[in-house]
Amino acid sequence: MEKPAILFVCLGNICRSPLAEAAFRDAAEKAGLEAEADSAGTADYHVGNPPDPRSVEEASKHGLDISGYSGRQLVIEDFERFTHIFAMDHQNLRNIEALRPEGSRAHVSLLMDLVPGREGAAIADPYHDGEEQFEYTWRMSTRRRRRWWSGWAEN
Ligand code: 4NP
Repeated sequence: MEKPAILFVCLGNICRSPLAEAAFRDAAEKAGLEAEADSAGTADYHVGNPPDPRSVEEASKHGLDISGYSGRQLVIEDFERFTHIFAMDHQNLRNIEALRPEGSRAHVSLLMDLVPGREGAAIADPYHDGEEQFEYTWRMSTRRRRRWWSGWAEN
């Protein structure tokens, strides 16, 4: 089986996708799953910046330190490097699809498509007044691992 390489994508790469990346890394490590993981933003607003303090705090509640993560923008090479690219919301998904080169085999979908019963839903942009979205992002990123990542771990 091809080693999974997962990219989590939001707008700024400082709120939602770093948390999703951290949750995946943690679960993969605990499951003994060899996988590559990273996150990126469709915009370049926060390139080189650390995650939002609210994301750092949410991760620390789960024993993870993401303060050293650094924001980066989605690039065309990501469609070669990653087997799966997960968007946080529909705008992210449209922007990813717009950049996707012809012939790319990367599987692109919403992160919430992995959560049974929540397919097609978004994790909304939390940057302005979205306090509850940080905890929600964590919860959705960890819920799906039982249904999906664990399948890989067993293969
Ligand atoms: P993220 O949140 O996409 O979850 O990282 C945002 C961060 C920054 C901005 C928007 C969303 N911004 O407009 O600067």
